[in-house]
Amino acid sequence: MTEGLGAAGFDCGEQTFFTWLGVVPYLTPEAMWSTLAFIASLPNGGHVVFDYSDPPDSLSPEARAAHDQRAARVSAVGEPWLNYFAAEELRAKLSPLGFSDIDDLGPPEIASRYFPNRAASIPERGGHIVHATAPGSAERLRKSGPGAASFQSYPDSPR
Ligand SMILES: C[S@@+](CC[C@H](N)C(=O)[O-])C[C@H]1O[C@@H](n2cnc3c(N)ncnc32)[C@H](O)[C@@H]1O
Repeated sequence: MTEGLGAAGFDCGEQTFFTWLGVVPYLTPEAMWSTLAFIASLPNGGHVVFDYSDPPDSLSPEARAAHDQRAARVSAVGEPWLNYFAAEELRAKLSPLGFSDIDDLGPPEIASRYFPNRAASIPERGGHIVHATAPGSAERLRKSGPGAASFQSYPDSPR
């Protein structure tokens, strides 16, 4: 990631906001977590916004049927959905990477914030939008000493 973004002119020293909507469901967990580890490791911090879905087996029967139809369609065009999370599981994995501020909006929160007129008919589970903020390895070092700068290791993480 460091090489690819560097070649495109990205400056790792700048605090950065990553818009990553419509991508995570298509990635392997390894690709997703190595990207998040990269963002959390930026010395001056980073923000990321991404979307994900609750696991299909946690959806209501109606929502599950609608999900299965859409999943079959995207799979048929060669872009299968590979990645799902329960909200608590996602939060528990983001924190050790260095994300200290995690705002996870599920269907009810998205509806009440953006579609208040439809909030009554929204299911509990389905698509989520997350805004996660990492203060950066330099900030963690300043606050808690050298040990605090290390982050969980994923295959493609910058060292
Ligand atoms: C729903 S679109 C979102 C595009 C864009 N991020 C946006 O917000 O408009 C999903 C994108 O993910 C791409 N995609 C599918 N599988 C992928 C993969 N394994 N790795 C990276 N991108 C993938 C698709 O080609 C498509 O462009």
